[in-house]
Amino acid sequence: YNVPKAINEPVKAYAPGSKEREQVLAAFKEMYNSTTDVPLYIGSEEIRTGKTRTINPPFDHKKVVGVFHDAEKEHVEKAIAAALAAKKKWAALSWEHRASIFLKAAELLAGPYRAKINAATMIGQAKTVHQAEIDSACEFIDFLRFNVEFMTRIYNEQPISSEGIWNRMEHRPLEGFIYAITPFNFTAIAGNLPASPALMGNVVVWKPSATQMLSANVIMEVFKLAGLPDGVINMINGSAGMLTETIISSPDFAGVHFTGSTGVFNDIWAGIGKNISKYKTYPRIVGETGGKDFVIAHPSSIPAQVATALSRGAFEYQGQKCSAASRAYIPQSIWPEVKEQMVKDLASFKMGSPEDTTNFVSAVITEGSFDKLAKAIDAAKASNEAEVVIGGGYDKSVGWFIEPTVIVTTNPKYDTMETELFGPVLTIYVYEDAKWSETLKLVDETSPYALTGAIFSQDRYAIEEATKALENAAGNFYINDKPTGAVVGQQPFGGARASGTNDKAGSVLNLLRWVSPRTIKETF
Ligand code: ALA
Repeated sequence: YNVPKAINEPVKAYAPGSKEREQVLAAFKEMYNSTTDVPLYIGSEEIRTGKTRTINPPFDHKKVVGVFHDAEKEHVEKAIAAALAAKKKWAALSWEHRASIFLKAAELLAGPYRAKINAATMIGQAKTVHQAEIDSACEFIDFLRFNVEFMTRIYNEQPISSEGIWNRMEHRPLEGFIYAITPFNFTAIAGNLPASPALMGNVVVWKPSATQMLSANVIMEVFKLAGLPDGVINMINGSAGMLTETIISSPDFAGVHFTGSTGVFNDIWAGIGKNISKYKTYPRIVGETGGKDFVIAHPSSIPAQVATALSRGAFEYQGQKCSAASRAYIPQSIWPEVKEQMVKDLASFKMGSPEDTTNFVSAVITEGSFDKLAKAIDAAKASNEAEVVIGGGYDKSVGWFIEPTVIVTTNPKYDTMETELFGPVLTIYVYEDAKWSETLKLVDETSPYALTGAIFSQDRYAIEEATKALENAAGNFYINDKPTGAVVGQQPFGGARASGTNDKAGSVLNLLRWVSPRTIKETF
């Protein structure tokens, strides 16, 4: 199969005076000073139900930059019907033509739509321009390009034949439709979750997060402009419970592609179990869920390297990456040096609107998230097992602003060492250097999750010990690097345990879940 060689989209710098900076700030201004009206996209229709919710920038929550419309049950049924109506033609379209649509979408995002999708991500999800660029431009483009290459690898996977016998395998789409449920924290994930099953010939009903609707709308615009036929991806929002209930009770439900919380995924899984005898085929259940990602430093590690990894790995995008470091284990011998540098780093992190590109962090996504984080910070301030050593301030008068905060605890099982907070709060346990091996055990046992983790050391024996001891503690394991920033095609992403089904986004393994192969044996 001859397809363009996938390459990772280079990250633009947005330096003062650069063209890309001028363009993104112009797109920001335009979107910020208008109101976007996001419809339901069902088949060829854009439906405005009139039952709307507002879109408010998290860093300026009184401002309204748009509305989106909520579906009633009848619209959900209509979206399923539109998907199924599009199915036959779409599944029969040759793979080259399906691939071309998504490759064209990648080119639109790399060129004319780069500023718009980044601006939407900056406003709607409160990402700085750099964080928007590595997500809604680069990672999204990478998913679209690399998926095409992965698809051809799947099609190339053929059984052996022998004299007089020709064995072959057809990688058909699943029978029915796919339900994509996507999170606010990565525009790239929001785009990839409906796009990867669609590339393999499936049709999709997509429910984005209510706090990602501005960039979700741009994604639909780009897919349509790239030539995606009506009904292949139908985007709807509304009461999550009603949507899921309606969708998973359809006999044509063929799979769910999910990124979100462990609790919601468990409920969906249980709901699918309840309905299992209704379906034409066993549904594929693919999910990336929670995390409590760790950093453990060995006494041999370089303190400056550990401090930088923590400052960036825990606080970029306000700690709202599923991969963000949220618990760390630092040996006593290097802690004073690590702390000293982190104090300096965090003091230099300016916080505010992404429009000011000198800001390093912005607001957290919702009031609910703000309240949860503020409560955890207050609890740490009052606890005799914990101390807030950096940050600890918060203010919701204009935006949902939580200062990057470091808590040090004397109890390795302290609440915020175990509970996912999804925000800019890092908890550190300082251990006695001699207790390195016991601490590895603690890392493994403390949290039910296993998404990302990092070990820092200059001692190869320690690195090997940690790699083995933490074999099941992280699906993405980093040696001497921060646990965030997995790149499509380079570090396939996903975790096991309570963090998901580990079907590795950005790899052939993910796309394999969206095909139902038929083996054909022909005898001559
Ligand atoms: N690519 C994202 C990260 O690893 C999910 O941070």
